[in-house]
Amino acid sequence: MNKHLLSAADLSRDDAVAILDTAAELSRVTDRAVKKLPTLRGRTVVNLFFEDSTRTRISFEAAAKRLSADVITFSAKGSSVSKGESLKDTALTLEAMGADAVIVRHGASGAPHRLAHSGWIDGVVVNAGDGTHEHPTQALLDAYTLRHHLAGGTGALEGRRVVIVGDVLHSRVARSNVLLLHTLGAEVTLVAPPTLMPVGVDTWPCTVSYDLDEALPGADAVMMLRVQAERMNAAYFPTSNEYSRRYGLDVRRAGLLAHDGIVLHPGPMNRGMEITAEVADGPRSVIVEQVTNGVHVRMAVLYLLLGAAEVDTAVAHEEAGE
Ligand code: NCD
Repeated sequence: MNKHLLSAADLSRDDAVAILDTAAELSRVTDRAVKKLPTLRGRTVVNLFFEDSTRTRISFEAAAKRLSADVITFSAKGSSVSKGESLKDTALTLEAMGADAVIVRHGASGAPHRLAHSGWIDGVVVNAGDGTHEHPTQALLDAYTLRHHLAGGTGALEGRRVVIVGDVLHSRVARSNVLLLHTLGAEVTLVAPPTLMPVGVDTWPCTVSYDLDEALPGADAVMMLRVQAERMNAAYFPTSNEYSRRYGLDVRRAGLLAHDGIVLHPGPMNRGMEITAEVADGPRSVIVEQVTNGVHVRMAVLYLLLGAAEVDTAVAHEEAGE
C-alpha cells in the first residue's frame, strides 16, 4: 500500500480488499458497548479542514478516537487561515506539533497531493476531499456498503451494475467511485445532463448515459449525487423542477432497479431535488448505513497506513479484556 491515500487510483485491488476486510473486522469492535481499541495510542491524527464538512470530519474524528489516537481538529474558519496563512505555514505548524497523520479537506484540487509531496510534513496524508477532484475514503465506504448488501459482506463486486447520477462535473465522489468500483470489477454507468458531465469523461473506466430511465432497469445500485450549487458559477440546467423531472430519483424510478437494488447518497442531500424524501427514507435506502460504515472504513485506513499490528491480534486482545 502507498504511504498516503490521495486518490482511489492509489489502491490496487488487493489494497482495496485489505481495507474493506479490515473495516469489516473493526466493525465488530464498534458494535460493542465499549468501542475502543488501544492500537493508535500515543499517535497524533490531525483533521485539517479548509472546507465545510459534517459527516467526513466527524467520521475521521470518531475513527481516530476509537483507535485511541490523540485527535486535533483544525477548521480553517476561526484559525489563522482566515488571516491569510498559507497551506505551507499551516503544514509546518502541524509538523512541529508531531502529527503522525494529516487528514485534509481543501477546496483546491491537488492540495493533499501538494501536502504529501512537498516535504513540509513527515506524516501520512489522507485526502478527505479536494475540490472537484477526489474523495477516496467516500468511495471506500460506498464500496463497503455495496459489498455488504450485494455480495454478502465479503464477496466481490464483479459484474455488479452501479449507476451514479447527477452533478458529476463538480463531484469528487463520482471520480473516486468510478476508479475504485472499476478496480473492484463492478460496471459503472454515469448519468447526468450533458452540461454536468466533465470533459474527458470518455477516458474514465465506465459508460456514460444522459437518460436515467434507460440506465436504471436491472441495476444493483444507484448512487445519487448532490447538485453542488456552491460550485456552480453558471446555469447548468433550466430549473430545479426540470432537473428533478429528468434526473431525480423518485419511487417510480427506484422501482426500476433490480429486485434487491439499493439507493446510496454521500450526503448532504437536497431532498426534493436529486432524491425524493420517500426514496431517501424508503426501504431501498442505505444512506444512514453509509455514515456508520464510513467510521469503520476510516478506522481501517488509519490502522493500515499508520502501520499498526495485525487487526486480528488487536481484536483478540480486546476481547480477552487486555
Ligand atoms: C461529499 C463531498 O463533500 O464531496 N460529501 C461527503 O463527503 N459526505 C459530497 C457532497 O458534498 O455533495
